[in-house]
Amino acid sequence: MSRIPAHIGVIMDGNGRWAKRRGLPRSAGHKAGADNLEKMCDYCGSIGVKALTVYAFSTENWSRPQKEVDALMDLLYSYLLTVEEKFKNRNMRLQISGDRTPFSDKIKAAIIHAEEVTAPGDGMVLNIALNYGGRDEIVRAARKTAEDVKAGKISPDDIDEDYFGKYMYTANLPEVDLIIRPSGEKRLSNFLLWQAAYAEFWYSDICWPDFKDKDMERAIIDFQKRDRRFGNV
Ligand code: IPE
Ligand code: IPE
Ligand code: MG
Repeated sequence: MSRIPAHIGVIMDGNGRWAKRRGLPRSAGHKAGADNLEKMCDYCGSIGVKALTVYAFSTENWSRPQKEVDALMDLLYSYLLTVEEKFKNRNMRLQISGDRTPFSDKIKAAIIHAEEVTAPGDGMVLNIALNYGGRDEIVRAARKTAEDVKAGKISPDDIDEDYFGKYMYTANLPEVDLIIRPSGEKRLSNFLLWQAAYAEFWYSDICWPDFKDKDMERAIIDFQKRDRRFGNV
């Protein structure tokens, strides 16, 4: 139980393939993935993980067939409606990271409500990356920093990693220690580009809906054996 990663990032991938193998529509895979997230939150919270950032919808995922995007938005909305009740007992806090502007008013309002009602939770933070892109996050930080320079709040020479990093969605959370990608793909797909600088990686061939406590435990045990040198010797 020592050296539990403070902040874990998960690319919740493989829902579509999970469904296809069962002869189910892709939307059934997304539903199974959402159900699995709940179980994973319980496990991570129980072992002392402080923050879990999960990639639920990327800035690139809008390019999927409209039917699938609609199903994902419906699933997101119904998930948000359950947050208040689910999180209360678990003392969890919800945070949403990503550009909310393209979401419907209904979803935007549900996000605000879910974040507000869970704000007192001082247990694990579930940070859901929604319409999130690592590049978009960095461009957004650059824009805000440029505005600060323009407003005379800071001079270009004063911009450093700390200053710039404060504009990342995860600035209030611990450093990301471990990034996990189920489903067999070995790429970041625009997830946590800034935060991944010194995160450890773990890949698994298991599709996200089948990724269980024991798989998370395996990833964490492997993480604990690693020698993180951060450039030192
Ligand atoms: C991840 O599962 C969920 C989202 C991207 C919304 P996928 O839908 O990418 O599943 P695969 O990769 O097609 O199996
Ligand atoms: C990354 O998965 C995004 C999410 C899991 C939400 P994708 O399935 O969209 O990524 P690619 O297309 O395999 O890179
Ligand atoms: Mg995928």
